Amino acid sequence: MRSYSLLAPAKINLYLEILGDRPDGFHELVMVLQGVELADQIDLRVGGMGNIYVECNHPEVPSDRSNLAYRAAELMTQQFPDCFARFGGISVAIQKNIPVGAGLAGGSSNAAAVLVGLDLLWDLGLTQDELEELGATLGSDVPFCIAGGTALATGRGEQLDTLPGLDGLYVILAKFRSLSVSTPWAYQTYRKKFSTSYLKDSTDLELRRQQVHSGPMLNAIAHHNSVKIGQLLHNDLEKVVLPEFPEVLRLRETFQRLGVLGTMMSGSGPTVFALVESEEKAHQIKEQVKREIANPDLDLWVTKFAKAGIQVVGGR
Ligand code: C5P
Repeated sequence: MRSYSLLAPAKINLYLEILGDRPDGFHELVMVLQGVELADQIDLRVGGMGNIYVECNHPEVPSDRSNLAYRAAELMTQQFPDCFARFGGISVAIQKNIPVGAGLAGGSSNAAAVLVGLDLLWDLGLTQDELEELGATLGSDVPFCIAGGTALATGRGEQLDTLPGLDGLYVILAKFRSLSVSTPWAYQTYRKKFSTSYLKDSTDLELRRQQVHSGPMLNAIAHHNSVKIGQLLHNDLEKVVLPEFPEVLRLRETFQRLGVLGTMMSGSGPTVFALVESEEKAHQIKEQVKREIANPDLDLWVTKFAKAGIQVVGGR
């Protein structure tokens, strides 16, 4: 038996702009993705008889093919059948800390950890680019989850440009436990409402990507200007999720009133995050939100920007 323990961090979107439709049915995006330290732990083991076995301490996380971590293991067995035959069955134990269905890429990050872990356990020596390419076949966020840190993501979200790492910013995450948003629903609703404004021409798409690349958010990141970063947070999907989920809007308004650097919904939601400059302030804001929205269904976390993606924390 060989095993590895890996940390699979969550991500937030500092910027998410929908540019248009893609021939594959997905959307052309420009995003700024940021890893945070809130992470699931993945214990990966190979050996013995058997096939692929996934378990999770969270009751809502499935153990079958509908779990992206399962599909990541399956993909590796298809790509490297000799290794699967040589090393034996794969068991994936997921300890969930990242909320599920939250817009924080928890499932994608678990899949990323399985790819990174099997590369190590099977002594494959894949490059990060090769791992990211495999990851992109599983989901648009998987390549970023492998890379971590701060990145500009284009295409479906799978094409990454590493940006200068942002240090020292703290994040408060807020999510109503019973609320979750379907990502396909959010994108489809956006298409129904706003597709008339989609860019159609490839030259226009490239121009817009370049404008974001040399625009104010990337400039603020390059200069580590946290005040500007807070002011420039943007997420087009808020336009469809906030009207449908007034609780999410209320969270955002509460953070805003408490004087954070900036607040925004992450991905397709419904998690709302707020940025602050110190850990002390983060805990203070968390307590204030808990007092103002005294709802036992509300979960809050304090975390900080992370520089690394998937990390190995133990192995035998
Ligand atoms: O890539 P992933 O499986 O995470 O995407 C989930 C869903 O989100 C897709 O099926 C699609 O409906 C929507 N999506 C999209 N455009 C993207 C990424 C996701 O329309 N660039």
